[in-house]
Amino acid sequence: MNIFVTGGAGYIGSHTVLQLLREGHDVVVLDNLSNSSKESLERVARLANKEAKLYIGDILDKELLDKICSENHFDCCIHFAGLKAVGESVAKPWEYYNNNITGTLNLLSALRDHDMKNIIFSSSATVYGDPETIPITEQCPKGVCTNPYGWTKSMIEQILMDMAKADSEWNIVILRYFNPIGADESGIIGENPRGIPNNLMPYVTQVAVGRLEKLGVFGNDYDTPDGTGVRDYIHVSDLADGHIKALKKITDNAGLCVYNLGTGKGVSVLELVKSFEKANGITIPYEIKARRPGDIAVCYADASKAKEELGWEAKRDIVDMCRDSWNWQSKNPEGYA
Ligand code: NAD
Ligand code: UFG
Repeated sequence: MNIFVTGGAGYIGSHTVLQLLREGHDVVVLDNLSNSSKESLERVARLANKEAKLYIGDILDKELLDKICSENHFDCCIHFAGLKAVGESVAKPWEYYNNNITGTLNLLSALRDHDMKNIIFSSSATVYGDPETIPITEQCPKGVCTNPYGWTKSMIEQILMDMAKADSEWNIVILRYFNPIGADESGIIGENPRGIPNNLMPYVTQVAVGRLEKLGVFGNDYDTPDGTGVRDYIHVSDLADGHIKALKKITDNAGLCVYNLGTGKGVSVLELVKSFEKANGITIPYEIKARRPGDIAVCYADASKAKEELGWEAKRDIVDMCRDSWNWQSKNPEGYA
């Protein structure tokens, strides 16, 4: 298939492009490189022995989207492009709503104008807010998001659902990711956050590599077995696989489908730290800090719908994730720099 990947130079995008190329698909990437570098795709090309075509540009640029959709015929678009830093979204709400929502509307308009109404969208477990039930099924109602980033995901989902309702020619797969970590097992591509990482695993690997002194654990008084927050960490290569499997729903003309992509297992902050230490033989100094505003205690998936309907399930465990995260960071202490 010919696949259009927005945000394909980023963390999840680059791992998915690698998998797509390995599966024999042709890939066209659009990325403005605002949170990535084209080095990721150069490395993907070396790993896959095949190149994705890269347009450096913005989903806010309607003319460029029209040009790309005129120059190529796409069987599906996988839409990763977006800003994703939770804290930054609180400080810059307009920039987040504009980039993520206006950008998505532009993309949908270009795809519709060129009669290419197939899209897979990167959503997030954040749309459940503080979930009503654990493990979280897709039936769990969407909740109140605690930040503009989360609202962009929730609102884009609503836009997609309304578009699918109004026009049955759209095939739309919404994938709600839980907590992606890890890296391709080669250690050649991986997560490359700008500045001090917000997320747990890149913070841990930067402590391990000596770029940061110690980890702050945000709260140990949650109602969880060890008091620290519980999340569903999922290996980025398993997540990438989920997108490949989701393509089948597009070719089946399945209309609108929503899937959780998680492992179904909850891991606490301290359990993750211990797994990392054990997997890699490195001690991670940490101190307990106050809770981070907006955090919830527990979030993990019921991922059985993706298993039943897509034939997808996560294959890699937390040890694999810790090993591969460290393999990437230790081989690339400064990331792609
Ligand atoms: P990332 O920042 O590494 O990748 C996003 C890519 O989009 C970057 O390469 C960036 O340069 C590009 N981009 C941003 N705005 C753009 C624009 N206006 N035009 C063109 N390109 C643009 O992030 P990621 O972790 O790979 O996330 C990919 C997607 O998955 C995002 O939509 C994110 O919100 C979503 N998601 C991520 C997580 C996570 O924890 N990483 C969890 C749930 C959902
Ligand atoms: N944590 C720490 N110290 C840190 C960073 C995180 O203790 O330095 C804790 C958090 O309090 C939380 C857990 O580690 O309990 C995971 O935090 P992350 O920031 O790694 O992930 P979140 O679950 O907060 O959010 C992530 C993405 C969101 C996405 C969500 C669900 O950042 O964008 O997963 O997919 F919406």
